[in-house]
Amino acid sequence: MQTVRQLEALREAVAAWRQAGERIALVPTMGALHDGHMALVDAARRAANRVVVSIFVNPKQFGPNEDLAKYPRKEAADSRMLSGAGVDLLWMPPVELVYPEGFATNVSVSGVSEVLEGAHRPGHFDGVATVVAKLFGQVQPDIAFFGEKDWQQLAVIRRMTMDLDLPVEIQSVLTQRDDDGLALSSRNAYLMPEERAKAVALPRALGAAGKAIVEGGDVEAALAQARETLAAAGFEIDYVALADAATLAPVTAYSADRPLRLLAAARIGTTRLIDNIAIP
Ligand code: PAF
Repeated sequence: MQTVRQLEALREAVAAWRQAGERIALVPTMGALHDGHMALVDAARRAANRVVVSIFVNPKQFGPNEDLAKYPRKEAADSRMLSGAGVDLLWMPPVELVYPEGFATNVSVSGVSEVLEGAHRPGHFDGVATVVAKLFGQVQPDIAFFGEKDWQQLAVIRRMTMDLDLPVEIQSVLTQRDDDGLALSSRNAYLMPEERAKAVALPRALGAAGKAIVEGGDVEAALAQARETLAAAGFEIDYVALADAATLAPVTAYSADRPLRLLAAARIGTTRLIDNIAIP
C-alpha cells in the first residue's frame, strides 16, 4: 500500500490505473478505523480493481464546541489495518492541501442538510459536502462507499452527486454493530464502561419503536416511548424522528410503499451518539 500526502503523487498513481483500464473505488474516512470502515473497504475491494482510502479529519465539519481537537487519531494502526485489507493507496492530505490559503468554496445542499443533524449541528453538512466534493475531485473515483450509520450524510452526498452530475457512483454499506447492537463508531471510544453499558438503549429503543410503527402503532406514541426509554437510560436526546429515507422530511404516518428511516441522536455523558434503522 502506498501512503500519499501530495496531489501530484496521487494523480500519478490514479492516472496509471486509469490507463490500464482499472476501476477505482474511494472510501472516505476520518481515520480511527473500526470494523464499520473495514466493511466499506471489503465492499470497495469487491467492486473495483483499485481501492483508495482517504483519512482526513475535516475541520470544516466540526462546530466550534465539538470534538475536533480530541477526535481520535490513530495513523499507524489505521495504516496497518488498511494495508492488511489489501488497500492500494492511503490518501492522507495535509489540511493546507485541502483548504489552502484563499479557499473560498462552500458546497451547501439545501433541504436534506437542514433537518435533524443539520438543525443540531449548523454547518456540519456543508463541511461534509465540501470535503467530499473535494476528495472526489482529487481522487476521481468511479465509485465511493459510505456507511448507513450516517444515514443523513449519505442522503446529502447522494443529492450533491446527483445535482452536480458528479461521475461517481455512490454505494452504501449496512451499519456494523457490536454483539449487543450498538452501532460501531469511532466516537464509541469516548464512552466510559458504565456509559457503554447504557448505550445499548439506543439501538433497542429504535428497534422497539420501529416494530411498533410497522405493526400499525401511532407514530408519535412510538417516538415518545423511544424518547422515554432513552431518557430513563440516562441519555439527553437531540431527536428521535421518523423521516423520508431520501429527503429526510418528517413523516407522521407509516406507509409500507415509501422508504422510511427512523433516526436518533442523543448524548450519554459527553458523548453524542447517532443511529438509525430502516422502516420496515
Ligand atoms: O463519515 C465520515 O467519516 C466523514 O463525514 C467523511 C465522509 C469522511 C467526510 O469527512
